[in-house]
Amino acid sequence: MLVTGKQILDHANENGYAVGAFNVNNMEIVQAIIRAAEETQSPVILQASQGAIKYAEIEYISAMAKVAAEKASVPVALHLDHGTDFQQIMLCLRHGFTSVMIDASKHSLDENIEISKQIVDISHAVGVSVEAELGKIGGTEDDITVDEREATMTDPDEAERFVKETGIDSLAIAVGTAHGPYKGEPKLDFDRIKAIKERLNIPLVLHGSSGVPEESIKKAVANGINKINIDTDIRMAFNRAVRSFINDNPDAYDPRKILGPGRKEAQSIIADKMRMFESSGKAWK
Ligand code: G3H
Ligand code: 13P
Ligand code: ZN
Repeated sequence: MLVTGKQILDHANENGYAVGAFNVNNMEIVQAIIRAAEETQSPVILQASQGAIKYAEIEYISAMAKVAAEKASVPVALHLDHGTDFQQIMLCLRHGFTSVMIDASKHSLDENIEISKQIVDISHAVGVSVEAELGKIGGTEDDITVDEREATMTDPDEAERFVKETGIDSLAIAVGTAHGPYKGEPKLDFDRIKAIKERLNIPLVLHGSSGVPEESIKKAVANGINKINIDTDIRMAFNRAVRSFINDNPDAYDPRKILGPGRKEAQSIIADKMRMFESSGKAWK
């Protein structure tokens, strides 16, 4: 069942759990996510980045995700991840995405508000939910110190103004995570999550969640995170299984035999995440 991002995240916010938003790049990953969601009876968000849309083409990715959602026995939203381009976001609205992210976090606060509000006005007019980002969630490869990372974190006062003036449905916050594989263990600022949640009480989003230990994920959820973005851990699981199959079967040439183990391994780690986020068993009819 295809639903909006807001329906999924408001349910998570009201019931104190988090929904996994998993990045899709191809059919096998779409299927892995939906199979894991059905296995755990979990609501789920399929999200496509601009890079994924460029790779797979918007017609294919939206058609696959819509078929998957309509066939699924659990609620599914189709979301644009890190949209930075007005035209790209309009194309997603036209292709049936039920949620979009406007990421104008590299701009000043005033510009971020202005750009995000424009997307909210248009998207809400056609019933699509909007996530925006405040603070800067970088990459793990960014060579910055702990103090510099701290300076990019979301300020609770600014967050309150940002949400009031834009009317967004959910907010991605910078609280110590980063995109990609971590070198050490990420240190999350749980007090900051709590402070932001107390001011806003809207669904909060944690990006860069691959490689964050279970204990930190659980604490983040307890403090108010309702959407958890996972990409790198899926890529790694897929890659691990495909490589291992090819190593064991060097003469294999059938793509179904080669990619099938990737799909299975991805499903397994996604189902584990759903249990960790406590979204398992929360699907509704
Ligand atoms: O946050 C970024 C996601 O991991 C998507 O990455 O732009 O390489 O598709 P990508
Ligand atoms: P990871 O690749 O670090 O899991 O981050 C995913 C993400 O935040 C997508 O927006
Ligand atoms: Zn992200």
